[in-house]
Amino acid sequence: MAKRKKRVALLPPPPSPPVRPGLVSPILPVPPEIERPDYATTGTPSPREARAVRTGNEIERMRVACSAAADVLNVIGDSIEPGVTTDEIDRIGHEDYIRRGGYPSTLNYKGYPKSLCTSVNEVICHGIPDSRSLAEGDIVNVDVTIYLGGVHGDTSATFLVGEVDDDSLRLVDETRNALYAGIEAVRPGAPINAIGRAIERHAKRYGLGVVREFIGHGIGDQFHTSLQIPHYFDPGYDTALEPGMTFTIEPMLTLGEPTLVVWDDGWTAVTRDGQRSAQFEHTVLVTDSGAEILTLPSDGLPAAERFRR
Ligand code: MF3
Ligand code: CO
Ligand code: CO
Repeated sequence: MAKRKKRVALLPPPPSPPVRPGLVSPILPVPPEIERPDYATTGTPSPREARAVRTGNEIERMRVACSAAADVLNVIGDSIEPGVTTDEIDRIGHEDYIRRGGYPSTLNYKGYPKSLCTSVNEVICHGIPDSRSLAEGDIVNVDVTIYLGGVHGDTSATFLVGEVDDDSLRLVDETRNALYAGIEAVRPGAPINAIGRAIERHAKRYGLGVVREFIGHGIGDQFHTSLQIPHYFDPGYDTALEPGMTFTIEPMLTLGEPTLVVWDDGWTAVTRDGQRSAQFEHTVLVTDSGAEILTLPSDGLPAAERFRR
């Protein structure tokens, strides 16, 4: 009997030992004068239905919040180096959100205990900052979200820690490019699935996997609205994009298989095969002719470009 041909991943073992949970420090306080989202006390976001299209006034506030998120991410980028703990990155972010008058959107969101997510190496997303130090050769996604002026701005980038191996460099570069391909697919009248189609095509071209369990989302006065933006092609997502929609595009690409396991902390998603994963995220606005990236800093380049090597 002929053997069924199996696709064998010809990947070397990951260049670093598996990431293990560290110690999570106590919840950091937020000054009382900072305006809080509805879930800040209870941990549960209100279930109310959100509109997909924002008002002009909301869009103006989104610009401010999104730009602040991009500024926080740049501040964090400056702190990335071997020896820094992810808890220290969280503290730097926490203080910077507050300095800008914003609330760290992730803090107590469905019980999440920290002010941003730090996802190292094979961690796909939602890594909880802890006592682990960054090591030479790591890659780390830092995902920041600020609540400012009654709306959220959400952006992330994957940073290189010292010198990284060539596969990780390719993964990070092509995940960034996959985000850009997704953004370029945005135009009014196009189906939502045009975004995932472009991202998936890019990933396939470079032999990278696309994570399916986490997707982009509508965002505005709520952190995550019911609007869903898959990063793979799904024919069912044929709703037309409309000017005034605001959502994130945040592809997670993998060197190996894009299947995942969640740690028993209920948050940390890691690749099942232990191979590395990268992610970049922007919040975008659908305009009359295409997409406007809202998560651009108040000056200079966004973190994805500023810390590109
Ligand atoms: N910022 C993440 C996103 O891109 C959400 C993190 S929710 C948390 O949607 F609770 F895990 F922090
Ligand atoms: Co997001
Ligand atoms: Co995010």
